[in-house]
Amino acid sequence: MKNPKSRILVTGSSGQIGTELVAALRKRYGQRNVIACDIKRSGADAELFALADATDRRALERIIRKHRIGTIYHLVSILSAAGEENPNLAWKVNIESLRNVLELAVRYKMEKVFWPSSIAAFGPHTPRTNTRQLTVMDPNTMYGITKVTGELLCNYTFTKFGLDVRCLRYPGIISWKTPPGGGTTDYAVAIFHGALRDGRYECFVSADTVLPMMYMPDAIRATLEFMAAPRSRLRTHLGYNLSAMTFSAGELAKEVKRHLPNFVCTFKPDERQRIADSWPRSIDDRGSRKDWGWRPRFTLRATAAEMLKNLRLAYRGAKEAAEDK
Ligand code: SER
Repeated sequence: MKNPKSRILVTGSSGQIGTELVAALRKRYGQRNVIACDIKRSGADAELFALADATDRRALERIIRKHRIGTIYHLVSILSAAGEENPNLAWKVNIESLRNVLELAVRYKMEKVFWPSSIAAFGPHTPRTNTRQLTVMDPNTMYGITKVTGELLCNYTFTKFGLDVRCLRYPGIISWKTPPGGGTTDYAVAIFHGALRDGRYECFVSADTVLPMMYMPDAIRATLEFMAAPRSRLRTHLGYNLSAMTFSAGELAKEVKRHLPNFVCTFKPDERQRIADSWPRSIDDRGSRKDWGWRPRFTLRATAAEMLKNLRLAYRGAKEAAEDK
């Protein structure tokens, strides 16, 4: 990428997706062409990192001008469970920052914007099995409300100003590089930490709770492929449904137990059960498959094996580092 106008900004770069997307984008487009931005400093090269709050439009504009940004991956978000603790903050962070990004992207004639939507955009009246792309959307969490609103804002900005803004509705994402925090699907990450650290885990949804999930390498590849797809192929600038696997919390616990026979999982649903119960159990992503060629690779079996392998190494590394001190 020689043209400096096409540098990429990733907001929310220290979060679950941001941490891995920044690395993948740098690998693909060159280290110096990707600027990471968050309210928490990450270990990244200081020159390629901007400390800023995306709800602060002036700060965001300064970064865009300084680094000649042409594409933004705007990942800043307060997730579902955290959003129920502080709904006003969830609205402010999720929507004000998105409006800033969209308005600045139009003003600076940017090439593309990516914004993550979610299965949380669906609600209790959405058909829960093989949920279609165009269907009832009546979320009952503030996070879900910001996701539907955000999709509409993105589509509006595309229709009115021609900005190429693209959204994916991610399922729950399973990954090991960042600790889980603030999401309803977090149990599908926390269970691996609990199993390796303590040999047990108390799951906050019931064993028969089924939600759509995806392993992070699939989520990253989906994002890169989707953003690289020719604009003429895309038939919606609302969110595209995206799917990989679907399983119950009980099936997940069984899969972990297959690797760690002494593992004990108990189930004690809390307020997050209500959120999980309002989301689809499985997703129809035929639109993504047809329009931009989406194919998932990771099954539950492969995901569990990879999670345990990678987390074991990470825990071993952390222990050795602590002993060296
Ligand atoms: N993983 C998110 C959450 O649980 C859903 O997008 O909040």
